[in-house]
Amino acid sequence: MSPKNSAGIERIGVVGAGAMGHGIAQVGAMAGYEVVLYDVDDTALEKAVARIRANLDKGVKLGKVETSVRERALAGLTTTTDLETAAAGSGLIIEAAPEKLDLKQEIFAELDRLAPGDAVLATNTSSLSVTRLAAATERPTQVLGMHFFNPVHIMKLLEIVRTGYTSKSAIASARTVGEAMGKTCIVVKDAPGFASSRLGLILGMEAIRMLEEGVASVEDIDTAMELGYGHPMGPFRLADLIGLDVRLHIAEYMYNETGEERWRPSDLLKRMVADGKLGKKTGEGFYRWDND
Ligand SMILES: NC(=O)c1ccc[n+]([C@@H]2O[C@H](COP(=O)([O-])OP(=O)(O)OC[C@H]3O[C@@H](n4cnc5c(N)ncnc54)[C@H](O)[C@@H]3O)[C@@H](O)[C@H]2O)c1
Repeated sequence: MSPKNSAGIERIGVVGAGAMGHGIAQVGAMAGYEVVLYDVDDTALEKAVARIRANLDKGVKLGKVETSVRERALAGLTTTTDLETAAAGSGLIIEAAPEKLDLKQEIFAELDRLAPGDAVLATNTSSLSVTRLAAATERPTQVLGMHFFNPVHIMKLLEIVRTGYTSKSAIASARTVGEAMGKTCIVVKDAPGFASSRLGLILGMEAIRMLEEGVASVEDIDTAMELGYGHPMGPFRLADLIGLDVRLHIAEYMYNETGEERWRPSDLLKRMVADGKLGKKTGEGFYRWDND
């Protein structure tokens, strides 16, 4: 039996099967929703399913996931490279494509055309204007942000982002689904960087500036925040997990949006992204990662 909320959501479409999309699909399927995961890239879908299977297997092994939940999740999950298959029949569609405004606007316009009229369209953007995505549709009251955190199956927070148009019922639907996924939801206004990215980014940017100035090493700056402030991980380790390309996009967006110097991306960050040192996903960022 799929869980139903007030809007009767039983099926969720997830757009983009990368670091975030595969995790969102996993927690959705674990919550008992039928999940259709879409990507433009077949290989990304194969990798996503393999990662979900590995996460579930590990969960069962550690006694954190019941075997029945694993089976239900795998049975409820399908993949597609056809956007219409993901959108049609879904009561909620969560977009987790790359952090580029024009790309997401195109996707939202398409989803608006393909999804049922009463479906809620959500974006997992870390910082982009949800209002501008809503404006790409003819259903702005049903558009909001559902900002999950990486890794999605572990991190408890869900930041629900409301624009000036978002209806109370759309927020209630997102909250119901989020809670069924085991998340604690907060609701924030659509403002550059929301609550979490704005604070997380300023810390990460300052850490990079400190590294450039030779104030301390990567390890020592991370240790300062871990032991001095009780952060579960320091800003560099976190940046490696998020992806330095994702970080750079957000910083560039914040800088262009606000014109404030504090958001200007540093040369070091730009150089690392240009060199393909994107963090854990490429095996090297501020740290080296053994992805095996
Ligand atoms: N990585 C994080 O820690 C994190 C945290 C919170 C939010 N986000 C946000 O989530 C979104 C996705 O980030 P990610 O880290 O998963 O990126 P990613 O690069 O790991 O995955 C993006 C996926 O989107 C696919 N894609 C490319 N073009 C597409 C299209 N037109 N339609 C559908 N899919 C397409 C790619 O093939 C890839 O599989 C971004 O908006 C990002 O800001 C990321």
